[in-house]
Amino acid sequence: MTSIGIVDDNPTVLGQMRLLLGRAGFDDIQGFTDPRKALIAFRAKPPGLLLLDYRMPELDGVQLLGLLQQAGAVQHTPVVMVSGCADLAAIRMLAYRAGAHEVIAKPLVAQEFSLKIRNLTRLAAMASTAVPGFQPFNVHSSGSMPSARWDLEPQDAVLRRMLEKVAVFRDERTGKHTTRMAQYAATIGHHHGLSLDQQDLLLGAAPLHDIGKIGLPDSVLVRPSSLSEIDRVRMESHTTIGYELLRDEASPLLQLGAEIALSHHERWDGSGYPLGLAGQNIPLSGRIVAIADFLDALTTVRPFRPAWLIDKATAAIEADRGRRFDPALVRAFLDGLESLRRIKRHFDGDESFVSRAATPY
Ligand SMILES: [Fe+2]
Repeated sequence: MTSIGIVDDNPTVLGQMRLLLGRAGFDDIQGFTDPRKALIAFRAKPPGLLLLDYRMPELDGVQLLGLLQQAGAVQHTPVVMVSGCADLAAIRMLAYRAGAHEVIAKPLVAQEFSLKIRNLTRLAAMASTAVPGFQPFNVHSSGSMPSARWDLEPQDAVLRRMLEKVAVFRDERTGKHTTRMAQYAATIGHHHGLSLDQQDLLLGAAPLHDIGKIGLPDSVLVRPSSLSEIDRVRMESHTTIGYELLRDEASPLLQLGAEIALSHHERWDGSGYPLGLAGQNIPLSGRIVAIADFLDALTTVRPFRPAWLIDKATAAIEADRGRRFDPALVRAFLDGLESLRRIKRHFDGDESFVSRAATPY
């Protein structure tokens, strides 16, 4: 019988899941209310199926899943995210993007819950016995694209997280902004027709776009709205500094990070920096991140101005179609607007969400 791991900070819900799964015949169940303890336990001995609450203090379900994936602990494990959040559509998107296989709403519907878990464990067991060596839940195992986020060498993922942490020390906007902006970028990429692997790679690399800011003096970073000409040139050098930091790394993710760092301030009409590239000479990744970064910057409170509503930011992006932004990507942005709104609402409404960059693990 499949072993089941449950992580939910609410002991009542944890007990309810134990009871339902016990009635369904599962007798090997390990439950945790503290996600940090679950991380230690499941790193050492991964469960056959994992149930994760989404909203938990210290470490939410998506973060915990990411850390377990980086440790290679849930590579072949069906993962179910459980959430009582009102905006379940946003949770679904974040959870599926992170690699969860199923999302179940709370309060649980007893019979439906038990049947879903039974079917997932059966499917995993059938697939693993049908083809020796087959890895049924290694969702990125096929295809010829470069490594997706969770297929990366563990040290590669760790390096990216370290780089993000370093960047947080230099720019207060970097932490949560990079996580949210990367979700925007992946969503725009989706509506532009990128494959899931390409979206995953973009999701992993986009947070490195401003990594070059670690090379800037405080005088430039503290008041970016009123820079002298010399300081403006210094500020613009964060693109080339970021590129130089990442360019020699062999991993596809860091290569894409280098490309994005260099190109995310280029403009469609050639008036951007640092190279003044125009049109499709600007890498697609940089063109996508340019819109995602602009959207996030405008809709976030800054020391020198209030946050704009997303409708106002949308109008600004549309107005810059063909000047600052790629017209085809503005189309993709508009097509994905509802998803982008959900991401924005989700991050706005969940102050307990801490970006991976700020995770103390
Ligand atoms: Fe930038």
